[in-house]
Amino acid sequence: MKIYKARDYDHVSQIAANILAAQIILKPDSVLGLATGGTPVGTYKQLIEKYKNGDICFSQVTAINLDEYCGLDSDNDQSYAYFMRDNLFNYININFYYVNIPNGMAKDAKAECERYNEVIAKNPIDIQLLGIGPNGHIGFNEPASELSATSHHVELAPATIEANKRFFENEEQVPRTAYTMGMGQIMHAQKILLVASGAGKADILCQALKGPITTRVPASFLQMHGDVVVVADEAALRKVL
Ligand code: F6R
Repeated sequence: MKIYKARDYDHVSQIAANILAAQIILKPDSVLGLATGGTPVGTYKQLIEKYKNGDICFSQVTAINLDEYCGLDSDNDQSYAYFMRDNLFNYININFYYVNIPNGMAKDAKAECERYNEVIAKNPIDIQLLGIGPNGHIGFNEPASELSATSHHVELAPATIEANKRFFENEEQVPRTAYTMGMGQIMHAQKILLVASGAGKADILCQALKGPITTRVPASFLQMHGDVVVVADEAALRKVL
């Protein structure tokens, strides 16, 4: 595992975007596993800049997002589909045919998970961008006695609802369930890029990177992956380095 200590959030974003840009330059038809949430926003801004400067081209890139809230359609501004358009896809030349996000409005959860499993099976992920939840979740793989290998419908943990309510008007509006890529699918990515910023992530990042490997901290499984790059700022890495 490589750990890059960045000065601050902007520096995290700069390094993470450089890594993703290098991936796209070296393999223009890369499959990018993408994340939402607050942390990757700066990374996406930097990628847009690199695209505008002519440094990278997304025309052959496939995007596969980690997760989506259930009950929100893609035009709802709280959906992850909307987030991705608003923070990245609308500003780059990605082909929307190559964009994949679970359908939060799917009526048949089993069928939707099977569909997403097929998408991932057909498009092996070259690099998976991850944030880390306050409880150690990656994607929406929440702490539990067992973790799922493949895409599944998940009940969000109270800590996740609490953390994500900042994006909604109030806590009641946070969807209670979601679709997420499974742990096995994340672990199958060729390379993993984990970004974290701020003192609020210091405890959980330390547990994930240095603590025991346990289903109670899903991100701790990353210790078993052969090619993980962690890019985090000094505040988030305070207890790790
Ligand atoms: C988002 C996702 C989540 C977030 C995590 C951290 O697609 O899968 O695991 O990465 O909740 O979110 P932020 O970056 O908002 O702290």
